[in-house]
Amino acid sequence: MLSSLTTELYRRVRPLLFSLEAETAHHLAMGALATASRLRFPLPWLRAASGADRSGTAQARTVFGVHFPNPVGLAAGFDKNGVALTAWEALGFGFIEAGTLTARPQPGNPPPRMFRVPERRALINRLGFNNGGAEAAAERFRRLRAAGRWPSIPVGINIGKSKATPLAQATEDYVFSLGKLHPHGDYFVLNVSSPNTPGLRSLQGRDELDALLRAVQQKNRTLPAPRPMLVKIAPDLSFPQIEEILDLARQHELAGIVATNTTVDHTSLPASVPYETGGLSGEPLRARSTEVVRFLAGRTPLPIIAVGGVGDAASAREKLDAGATLVQLYTGFVYGGPTLVPEICRGLSANKTGMDAERPSLP
Ligand SMILES: Cc1cc2nc3c(=O)[nH]c(=O)nc-3n(C[C@H](O)[C@H](O)[C@H](O)COP(=O)(O)O)c2cc1C
Repeated sequence: MLSSLTTELYRRVRPLLFSLEAETAHHLAMGALATASRLRFPLPWLRAASGADRSGTAQARTVFGVHFPNPVGLAAGFDKNGVALTAWEALGFGFIEAGTLTARPQPGNPPPRMFRVPERRALINRLGFNNGGAEAAAERFRRLRAAGRWPSIPVGINIGKSKATPLAQATEDYVFSLGKLHPHGDYFVLNVSSPNTPGLRSLQGRDELDALLRAVQQKNRTLPAPRPMLVKIAPDLSFPQIEEILDLARQHELAGIVATNTTVDHTSLPASVPYETGGLSGEPLRARSTEVVRFLAGRTPLPIIAVGGVGDAASAREKLDAGATLVQLYTGFVYGGPTLVPEICRGLSANKTGMDAERPSLP
């Protein structure tokens, strides 16, 4: 089977990729996927090589009015500018979250800013929203659609605050990006939880988030087709803080919650790992992220997109069992490679116990 060969190939290629600096390897992979997306003819091969042609549709679901062919999505940050959309579809993803895109283009923090922790299948990053800006992305998305190169899976768009915009004007930044990008996103995520933009996480505070959600939803309602609006939260919030966010989510009619972003808590890493400032993702985040998802699911009927430490079918099922409706992954893909997502989908279909479990009942 071609996908078994791909798995073996990735096992052999990964040490070479991992011998490169983490961000260099990322750009190399993204370059290859963007090229495949642009040329189109490699996509059927990519589908067969990843095993996506055998994923089936048993896990399809409709969430906040959007149809997802399977529940495993690409987490925000991998394809910030949305340059490889059809390649992700060929790799078996059920949806893509492009972004974080900001109102202004920006280079992000100085490199090095992305680090692997292979012994824990983890990453640490302090990229700081390096991206080409909302306007450029909107123009590229418009051209992709016009050229018939838009994927058939849902595309969510994750938006954040530009570093140069003062916190007091953050709301205008989000509203601007929504205005530019709204025709292209099947759903939108307000990222208020990245640890790498100074002050951003303070937008999770009651008053700040209240103002942000009010302004964004006001803008959203004026658009020809208002989009499902979600908020992405940090795993480092306390449960009372999360309850406050849920209150606001109800008040402002959000469509769901994305949980979680990376953590600033590095205490789970062995002392031998050199300290690097930034958000920790992957396996060390798995348990806390699941805990947050379970807490949310016990308190809200809103759909939850669970992200944090998903790297195989068992960890995906753990999130769904905790009450998530969809899952996403980033770090797991770096370690697992191109056959991972179809493998997860087949694993979920093979044992549907988790999928059929009732959502925990609300108190
Ligand atoms: C290198 C890197 C860059 C990321 N960039 C973003 C981003 O731009 N916006 C965002 O909302 N999350 C970003 N994330 C967080 C991921 O979307 C995800 O929430 C987190 O990594 C946990 O999932 P994982 O354990 O599957 O990686 C980034 C993560 C990594 C590792």
